[in-house]
Amino acid sequence: MLSVSASGQRTTTEQKKEKFITELMKKMTIEEKVAQLNLITPTAGTGPFKTRRATEKLQDGTAANVLSMRGTPQRIHERAAYAENTRLKIPYLLALDIIHGYKTIFPIPLGLSCTWDTLLIEKTARIAAVEATAMGYHQTYSPMVDISRDPRWGRVMEGSGEDPYLGSLIARAMVKGYQGDDLSDETSLLACVKHFALYGAAEAGRDYNTVDMSRQTMYQYYLPPYKAAIDAGAGSIMTSFNDIEGIPATANRWLLTDLLRDEWGFEGFVVSDYNCVQELIPHGVAANYKEAVRKAIDAGLDMDMASEGYTTFLKELVEEGTVTEKQVDVACRRVLEVKYDLGLFNDPYKNYDPGKAERVTLTKESKDIARSAAAKSMVLLKNENETLPLKTNMKLALIGPLIDDQYEMFSMWSPDGKADSVVTILEGIRQQNYDLVSAEGTFLTDEPGYLRNFGYYDEDEQREKVGQALKLTESADVIVAVLGESRNVSGEAKSMTNISLPRCQRELLKQLKATGKPVVLVLLNGRPLTLTDDLQFADAVLVAWRPGTMAGVALADVLFGKYNPSGKLTMTFPRSVGQIPVYYNHKNTGRPFKDGERGTFKSRYLDEMNSPLFPFGFGLSYTTFNYSEISLSDTLLAGENEKLLVNVELSNTGKYAGEETVQLYLSDAVASIVRPVKELKKFEKVFLQPGETKQVQFLIKPEDLKFYNHDLNWDWESGEFVVYVGTNSRDVKSATFVWTK
Ligand code: GLC
Repeated sequence: MLSVSASGQRTTTEQKKEKFITELMKKMTIEEKVAQLNLITPTAGTGPFKTRRATEKLQDGTAANVLSMRGTPQRIHERAAYAENTRLKIPYLLALDIIHGYKTIFPIPLGLSCTWDTLLIEKTARIAAVEATAMGYHQTYSPMVDISRDPRWGRVMEGSGEDPYLGSLIARAMVKGYQGDDLSDETSLLACVKHFALYGAAEAGRDYNTVDMSRQTMYQYYLPPYKAAIDAGAGSIMTSFNDIEGIPATANRWLLTDLLRDEWGFEGFVVSDYNCVQELIPHGVAANYKEAVRKAIDAGLDMDMASEGYTTFLKELVEEGTVTEKQVDVACRRVLEVKYDLGLFNDPYKNYDPGKAERVTLTKESKDIARSAAAKSMVLLKNENETLPLKTNMKLALIGPLIDDQYEMFSMWSPDGKADSVVTILEGIRQQNYDLVSAEGTFLTDEPGYLRNFGYYDEDEQREKVGQALKLTESADVIVAVLGESRNVSGEAKSMTNISLPRCQRELLKQLKATGKPVVLVLLNGRPLTLTDDLQFADAVLVAWRPGTMAGVALADVLFGKYNPSGKLTMTFPRSVGQIPVYYNHKNTGRPFKDGERGTFKSRYLDEMNSPLFPFGFGLSYTTFNYSEISLSDTLLAGENEKLLVNVELSNTGKYAGEETVQLYLSDAVASIVRPVKELKKFEKVFLQPGETKQVQFLIKPEDLKFYNHDLNWDWESGEFVVYVGTNSRDVKSATFVWTK
């Protein structure tokens, strides 16, 4: 990635890099250049097929990049060393999907995003980088920064929710955590931003489906996190499966060259997602494989994942003059530059030490971070009659199909996690030396897709299982029901049209409530769920996501009050699937409607409310926080150089110390294009002791008022603005100010 010094001159190191790569490329044949653009995978698992004869292709040098090469550090090293059998010995790039931890597994990214703690998120990425590089990996296919407003889409679990501002901060934090300050450092892992672009807007929440949106929506809501990751220095980016304005991302020159290179100045390399080059044929934009390859290289795709189209057709296309060798050179140089920045030409194995992985993996520090991250990711949605935190003198009935399951605390994107290192929910609660009756595995679900390794039961057996569970509650004072989704129903290729709890779990919950004992519902889930009819059967509801290695202790920390929950939803929970997409930064429409109002001919449903069940930013605490009215340093401002101070007083008016994420939203009352009813612009995490009050202050500048206008210029306009400050995107204080240019 060639950059220049402040003076605009190429620095000596950049000159040295450029000279090295130019000299190297002069020696390379077309086949050797194409090999740098070829990424193969010896194992399937994250795609529909694996590369045939993968080892041979690494040995003979027709592939210079490999994904999902697994094994011991020694085995991985041996295969990376195949590069030394090639004529020029150009180091291979070893990549892996490290999405929410490598061996130490953190909560799924959607859960992590609910911490709103970018430093913590950066730490989790740093730990993943240290563990993965010790094994010999150079690149991770992360961060996934796809904004999504549709929980039917199974991949919402991998992202950071619906907001571009928070999503951008998290994208930046993860790139920094993975890459560190110097890519050549032995613990630095090359980030790969994905999936470029707009993949989270797949129509109907159906994976791989069409995406169709205006440029204004792209620039305002969906593109910012990709740009944030690029600006943070991400060295690679991955194209998405979907089409954009009718052209698949992998063949979309506007996306990969005009926007990414010319407008954003990206200097790393672009890798396709799995087999995307070949998929240009079923997309219907290439009549055959060769044409698909031509379209991809013409658009600006540098590296071909798994399709082997580049290695099959590029040389021929160059020989017949359809593709220029210069195009191949440009792509090859980009890949070599990143390998150079990684330090691979100095030491392809980055201080290889086969014993290092053992020393740096699943350390106490890493597990402590995983425990804290899991506890902070959990979101308290309901807590009536102070059901939580649990009191130690009570007898607890713990019920649920996954309470003693290690594997289910992970996701489909943590295949390298050590499941046997997981603290299960049952174990975590037992460690509290609690008087506990448990019914692990007692209760099963009979709905397809929700099961893993459980036998399907017929109605009678199901009734018997429920009966057993209910019997256990007879001697208990409080019931903790751990329900929700199996890990198998969220992630890639796992879209769902029904995002409620399985029917039999809902039935169980109802019967547990009928015992008259307090019921705590703990959810294991990879997406927002429609809980509307279930809330009434629980006195407390805690979203635990897929909590990772330290699941049980983190959950126990929260249930027993060692950690006062502070998580805030980063994705709206709908009342019903029929409302989707439902999100906080929506537009007002010409016929706005507020639930409870009267009036027909309004933008509303006849059979459902407009408002979501739980809004973006929502999350309760064991304590209560009070917000004063907003005070503004001014209400009439003019010009670019003015600044506005927004002040609120936050008080902890409850019995427990706790952390609140104070959120600030802005709305632009009148503008040249329709603006959303509010947009998140700032937030601050504030820890208060019971009875403590703190002044929270935010600084607003004209930059915070900017948006992409109809001509896609990033600018602001004079007028009236409303500032909202509060505990979520719905429950806010407001104040108005006018700012003129
Ligand atoms: C998959 C996913 C992508 C992943 C890649 C490599 O199809 O879409 O997120 O990084 O293939 O496993």
